[in-house]
Amino acid sequence: MLILVYAKKIVWQLLRRIPFTSQYRARRWVEDEYMGFAHQNLRHLFLSIARFAHINRPINGYYFEFGSHEARTMRLAWSHFRHLFSWDFVAFDSFAGLPDIEDIDKQAIWEKGKLETREEDFIRIVTKAGMPRNRLTTVKGFYDQSLTPQLQQQFLPKKAAVVYVDCDLYKSTVPVLQFIRPFLQIGTVIVFDDWNCFYGDPDHGERRAWHEFCEANPEFRFVKFVSTNEAQSFICTNPG
Ligand SMILES: C[S@@+](CC[C@H](N)C(=O)[O-])C[C@H]1O[C@@H](n2cnc3c(N)ncnc32)[C@H](O)[C@@H]1O
Repeated sequence: MLILVYAKKIVWQLLRRIPFTSQYRARRWVEDEYMGFAHQNLRHLFLSIARFAHINRPINGYYFEFGSHEARTMRLAWSHFRHLFSWDFVAFDSFAGLPDIEDIDKQAIWEKGKLETREEDFIRIVTKAGMPRNRLTTVKGFYDQSLTPQLQQQFLPKKAAVVYVDCDLYKSTVPVLQFIRPFLQIGTVIVFDDWNCFYGDPDHGERRAWHEFCEANPEFRFVKFVSTNEAQSFICTNPG
């Protein structure tokens, strides 16, 4: 039985490589059209941030990324910002994948430990893409433990130019927003990569954490910036 399952899988994989089969056409469509669309959107987002920060210069500081996994977005950040700004790049991640999934974040796609990339692998991927090692800092740990006031002091007084939030879950986003509070300046761009996860429900995920943060900090002002089918970004116009 197991052999049959494997055989079927191998045949399917082979068909995907033979031109003019429907499996080949499907693979090409997914790789070129569908994933190309997702990549195009990300490029649009990163180029828009570059344009915004360049026109309004000087916006100095950090590129903070919360949720770094396989460095897809960190590499985009490097390739889109390196020629215009001297930002330092900081990746905050457990480097052990997702934490325990609490009731509010339960959904079939999330599992404890999923999306793990080891810290050394992440550093290797990013430096191989050309980022000098001294421009990259990694902070390893689950946010409820790692994002401490002491850590804030280590990074202050420099502020954040960009905060990229890609940690999927409500429970993960809450400590992130608490942490970035003193790093906000006029012009900081905050991106929520997973804005439409949880079917776009405002009572879940990054949306919920953001609304709660804005309600608890009415002295901060933000305006909407670029949105894609997946992400939503904001510009800080008054950091309290
Ligand atoms: C969707 S992946 C990030 C993808 C990444 N931006 C990329 O482009 O390759 C989500 C990441 O968030 C991290 N993460 C989620 N919740 C976390 C938490 N509470 N503490 C630390 N890391 C967390 C996971 O380890 C995972 O690497």
